[in-house]
Amino acid sequence: MVEQVERGWDDFWAEVFRVRHRRSLQGIEQYDKMVVEFCIEVLHLSTGSQLLDIACGAGDQSIEFAKHGIKVTGFDLAKSLIRIAQERAKVEGVKVNFYQGDMRNMSFKQKFNASVLLSHSFGFFNHEENKHVLRQVYEALADGGFLLLDLMNPYNIPVFQKTWTKLEGGYLLSEPHVFDAPAGILRGRPATFIDLDSGVVVLANEDALSNKDIRMYTAPEIQSLLEGVGFIKVDLYGENSLPRTPYTAKSDRMVVVASR
Ligand SMILES: C[S@@+](CC[C@H](N)C(=O)[O-])C[C@H]1O[C@@H](n2cnc3c(N)ncnc32)[C@H](O)[C@@H]1O
Repeated sequence: MVEQVERGWDDFWAEVFRVRHRRSLQGIEQYDKMVVEFCIEVLHLSTGSQLLDIACGAGDQSIEFAKHGIKVTGFDLAKSLIRIAQERAKVEGVKVNFYQGDMRNMSFKQKFNASVLLSHSFGFFNHEENKHVLRQVYEALADGGFLLLDLMNPYNIPVFQKTWTKLEGGYLLSEPHVFDAPAGILRGRPATFIDLDSGVVVLANEDALSNKDIRMYTAPEIQSLLEGVGFIKVDLYGENSLPRTPYTAKSDRMVVVASR
């Protein structure tokens, strides 16, 4: 019988999903470049602009923004990802300020020109906490600053498949998300990793699953949330790439840009 162990997000899964799995995806570097170019245009960023990348993961997009001369602060819950992001920025020869922390407790003194939450990194908490995150971002922005939320389209959620992926050091089994329609929540993704290095099967513990439920807001809901914390103008786009496309029920993404 093969030994089974349970591991948390920061001590195991963050690195498997955000580094080993993400970087195994074909074309991911081009995808990041495309998203960053889109953000630069719609957020009116230029050399020297101050950007806050919330839930920056292993810093893939933060580093790409920095290569465009943008002064980036990257922020993520997982210490392991912040360490990997810092090492990678050094290798790439760019300066990014990476901080570990919870987006529900941000206390930046500086005022940013813009903030991004990419790859659907909004909606992890209950409604009040989600609203609190937006309030905190509002506080962190300079007057005239922008917030961008790159979200899945709630009317066109991707069809997730059960998949096996061969990664460095083992095999990852990802179960599909399940959409809980009455709650409006895309429910978590249990995962199993067959760790060939240590010869064990790794399952996700409660902590690793805690941020896997995502509240899927519709456009009017998100608009009301944003206006409720003080944002004054909300624009919507259907893709996270240029040229800008209008948001429709069939769009791949729902990209929300709000200004302070
Ligand atoms: C979908 S990933 C996106 C990562 C990166 N932006 C990207 O596009 O690759 C979501 C990230 O949110 C981070 N996260 C989860 N809960 C968080 C919290 N409460 N505060 C800050 N970051 C959090 C996770 O560690 C993870 O890196």
